[in-house]
Amino acid sequence: MGYKVLITGAAGYIGSHFVEALIDSDAFSKGSALPQLSFLDDLSTGHLEFVNTLKAHALQRGFPEPKFYQVNLLDVDALNEAFASAQPDAVLHFAAKISVAESVERPEFYFENNVKGSKNLLSAMKAFGCKRIVFSSTAAVYGKVLDPVLAHQPLLENTPFNPINPYGESKLQMENAIREAHSEWGLNSVIFRYFNAAGASPRGSLGEWHEPETHLIPLLLRAAIGGRSLQVYGTDYDTRDGSCVRDYIHLSDLASAHLLGLSKLLKDELLGSTVFNLGTATGNTVLEVIHAAEKVVGSAIQFEVHPRRAGDSAVLVADSSRARNELGWQPIHSSMENILKTALQWERRSQSTN
Ligand SMILES: NC(=O)c1ccc[n+]([C@@H]2O[C@H](COP(=O)([O-])OP(=O)(O)OC[C@H]3O[C@@H](n4cnc5c(N)ncnc54)[C@H](O)[C@@H]3O)[C@@H](O)[C@H]2O)c1
Repeated sequence: MGYKVLITGAAGYIGSHFVEALIDSDAFSKGSALPQLSFLDDLSTGHLEFVNTLKAHALQRGFPEPKFYQVNLLDVDALNEAFASAQPDAVLHFAAKISVAESVERPEFYFENNVKGSKNLLSAMKAFGCKRIVFSSTAAVYGKVLDPVLAHQPLLENTPFNPINPYGESKLQMENAIREAHSEWGLNSVIFRYFNAAGASPRGSLGEWHEPETHLIPLLLRAAIGGRSLQVYGTDYDTRDGSCVRDYIHLSDLASAHLLGLSKLLKDELLGSTVFNLGTATGNTVLEVIHAAEKVVGSAIQFEVHPRRAGDSAVLVADSSRARNELGWQPIHSSMENILKTALQWERRSQSTN
């Protein structure tokens, strides 16, 4: 019998790419037995197409057919039924609502969906004796870095928390619930704080598909393909060209970190709760990303400059030396050119099929 791994949010952008990488990895067989994967997603922002693509890929690679539970984490009975059926050895928890703007409009909904939903998940894990979780957190838990020296440096995991919107606050509360579960009932966890997740599977079968889309790279590629203008918020920051600096990390590199974290948890090599930042420590300004995209697309991209948005930090870049040193992680797919090329391949494919 192979490992049983349950992935929440597997029908979403990052969860689906992780599953694809796990299926491609040879690291998780137990003897000759490949893992039994289970996907849990309510499809509120996820896509059944991704679930079907992943199921087909798993079968083609000789995995047992993945199970899919279309379940909302707030539905405790359905969640427990899924756990009774899946009996996971480990959980990867990607499921969450992720729009900052929506979280400002509907904060209660974000705390309910993200925090209550995660607490329900933790209760099900406790009830079914599953003591390993890999959790998707975010740089939004650091929010606005108040210390002016720290604010222009790559951020370490011990940077003080200062979330500035309900989304970031909900993710911090999810992290706290996971940490408390270690002292309360021995849950071991790896918490990854991603900076800006970007890019798409090199196969072209998965990619960024959020509705509405709020992330820079898909928005700018759609603007380029559709001949529209992109909105840029603020070119008067204290940065090299005045626009905000963000740390873009390719989904293949995020996935490889999760595989390393999962492997250590399954071997009981990481006990307690360990947090890792995932980024490249370099960072690109918004204008640099636009100019890099112009080269990849092969044409000029129009943009309009608007005033700064409230709450945007000038610079958010990760110091990921802990992940490099303790997990042996190397981000090797995160050049801006590769991020843009894979994202463009996905955008072109999804536009031609719509
Ligand atoms: N996209 C980014 O740049 C980014 C950056 C940092 C952290 N994260 C984190 O990564 C995770 C995945 O983000 P994503 O970009 O793939 O988002 P996504 O919206 O594409 O995927 C989230 C998935 O969770 C599912 N879901 C949401 N609420 C649920 C619930 N109550 N019950 C069951 N399923 C539910 C959705 O249907 C969706 O398939 C999130 O936890 C997010 O906070 C994302």
